[in-house]
Amino acid sequence: MADSRKLNIMGIESSCDETSVAILSDQIVKANLISSQHFHKSYGGVVPELSSRAHLQMVKPLVDAALQKTNLQLKDIDLITATAGPGLIGALLVGLTFAKGLSYSMNKPFVAVNHIEGHIFSGFLPARRTNSLAGGMEQKPKFPMLVLVVSGGHTLLLFVESFTKIFFLGTTVDDAAGEAFDKVSKLLGFGYPGGPQIELSALKGNEQSIKFPVAELKDEYNFSFSGLKTSVLRFVQNNFPDRKIPETDLNNISASFQKALVDALVQKAKFALDNHKVKSLSLVGGVAANKKLRGEFNNLAEKFKVPCIIPSMEYCGDNAAMIALRGYQLYQEGIRDSLSVKPYPAIPENHFLRLN
Ligand code: KG4
Ligand code: ZN
Repeated sequence: MADSRKLNIMGIESSCDETSVAILSDQIVKANLISSQHFHKSYGGVVPELSSRAHLQMVKPLVDAALQKTNLQLKDIDLITATAGPGLIGALLVGLTFAKGLSYSMNKPFVAVNHIEGHIFSGFLPARRTNSLAGGMEQKPKFPMLVLVVSGGHTLLLFVESFTKIFFLGTTVDDAAGEAFDKVSKLLGFGYPGGPQIELSALKGNEQSIKFPVAELKDEYNFSFSGLKTSVLRFVQNNFPDRKIPETDLNNISASFQKALVDALVQKAKFALDNHKVKSLSLVGGVAANKKLRGEFNNLAEKFKVPCIIPSMEYCGDNAAMIALRGYQLYQEGIRDSLSVKPYPAIPENHFLRLN
């Protein structure tokens, strides 16, 4: 039964290789179903055309399953939201068009969501807060907050003043953090997606064994990871010309690479905290699932005496709950999108600032 006091929000996410459908009752997640396209592994990366087809197969069954799980019918949904970008254009088209179809046929309002904004505010989803200052499940991030978005396609450092005021501090000048994990993983023969496999291997290695340099972009908030990736490549070429790397060395390379990348992320976040007074620090996106990074971020937050907000694992990778929540926040700000909204592959210039 629909709760008449609360809004039922449906979110649909299909920007890359996860089809996800969520139903929220206001800010409470009632269902967050995720279907991951594991078959891309055999290709070493996401194949866009195959991704679109898989979304097409999964979106309707997931919508049905989410309704069933929540004991709701389509007519009980008050707001439809979907990711409009950035992402793979063919993949985005599937979820976005399906959502627009629902909105049209049910005559319900529609809000198009920027996937990165979904990640940025994913710390507002219910999660166990990890550092001593963050409090329990109910503790929400406080504005202003410093947010580091680390995903497969993006690395962004942002000063977030409110739900509608997001200020850009820095980004990567080359590879994204997740992309660096994925490329080094491929190089080491672990395959795609790289983050979880490098993390597993790193657990068995010595992170002090190899000193991989990370480009230092002084006095700015930007990151650069392509040099780090190249130095791992050179190390492998020089020491293992036949590419046969014994397991101990593989683990040491993974651990040392992970340390170099995490240190670089933490260093920039520290630099931003030195210069901006904030009430919370948040780490979001697929790479935020990395335990070493989570731990280092907690330590950093403790040093600056601010609560550290990192979503639980379920909400780090791509998921529709964060899309529905972001759609709900925008809806509360009076935003309604027309059904002529088109998908966009990259973040439009000044998009985050559209509400300032
Ligand atoms: O946010 P996400 O699910 O998708 C994008 O929007 O890109 O992020 C996916 C990225 C991949 O590059 C994957 O290798 C990385 O997140 N990732 C991790 C871990 N789990 C996923 N990186 C490091 N450690 C992990 N445990
Ligand atoms: Zn993402």
